[in-house]
Amino acid sequence: MRRRSAPFVAGNWKMYKTLPEAAALAGAIREAAPGAAPAELVVLPPFTSLAEAARCLAGSAVGLGAQNLHWESQGAFTGEISAAMLVDAGCRYVAVGHSERRHIFGESDADAGRKVRAALKAGLHPILCVGETLEEREAGRTFEVINRQLMAGLEGIEDGLRARVILAYEPVWAIGTGRTASPGQAEEVHAYIRGRLAQKTGQDGADCAIILYGGSVKPANAYSLFKERDIDGFLVGGASLEAESFLGIAREAVRAYKEVL
Ligand code: 13P
Repeated sequence: MRRRSAPFVAGNWKMYKTLPEAAALAGAIREAAPGAAPAELVVLPPFTSLAEAARCLAGSAVGLGAQNLHWESQGAFTGEISAAMLVDAGCRYVAVGHSERRHIFGESDADAGRKVRAALKAGLHPILCVGETLEEREAGRTFEVINRQLMAGLEGIEDGLRARVILAYEPVWAIGTGRTASPGQAEEVHAYIRGRLAQKTGQDGADCAIILYGGSVKPANAYSLFKERDIDGFLVGGASLEAESFLGIAREAVRAYKEVL
């Protein structure tokens, strides 16, 4: 039986929050965070608010991350942000291959791999997102799609660095739709991902890997999802935009964690 780690709960703010709004939310999360111990909390504000959020969270246990990066360290790439710039702004984490990046902005599996490697090289923890569309699920292609995205995302990583990669399973049909995957549906894919990691990196590495679930996570469903053996926490969109619902998810995950310990 793998040892469960404390819930890891990351809030992806997407393209929400102006500077003052971001400062207020980061401050409120900082204030309430001790009430969700021992959950590990991370926020992913938009680029423009990163430095301000870093100031608001300084000295607290709440981690900071970005939502995207470019794989080159610098250069003529108008509109892009490098890993070193994220580190500079105070980030420890960065999301890679979010389904909105893949499906709206045309990012490829290979792009995700390049971004994971760039993030690792700069000392960041990439949060590699994978997930199938409804069409792919209904065609019985879920595992094939997850496997393809996972293997491309993890390609070319040195053995010693793989443990720094956090994974997030976010079924596209569950994102922003209010249609959460059932605990059973989520666990089935999480267990598959962990199994593939075990084949690739060995059982110990797979047992320690953090695999998050994302897609319409709310305080009301966090407990039953976290009860599943292979769900280590959440990547939260809409419900992370208010401190109360974000912390509510973390507290529900902690309640489940204490029962499965
Ligand atoms: P929602 O929680 O709004 O469904 O978004 C999930 C997500 O995309 C997090 O990255």
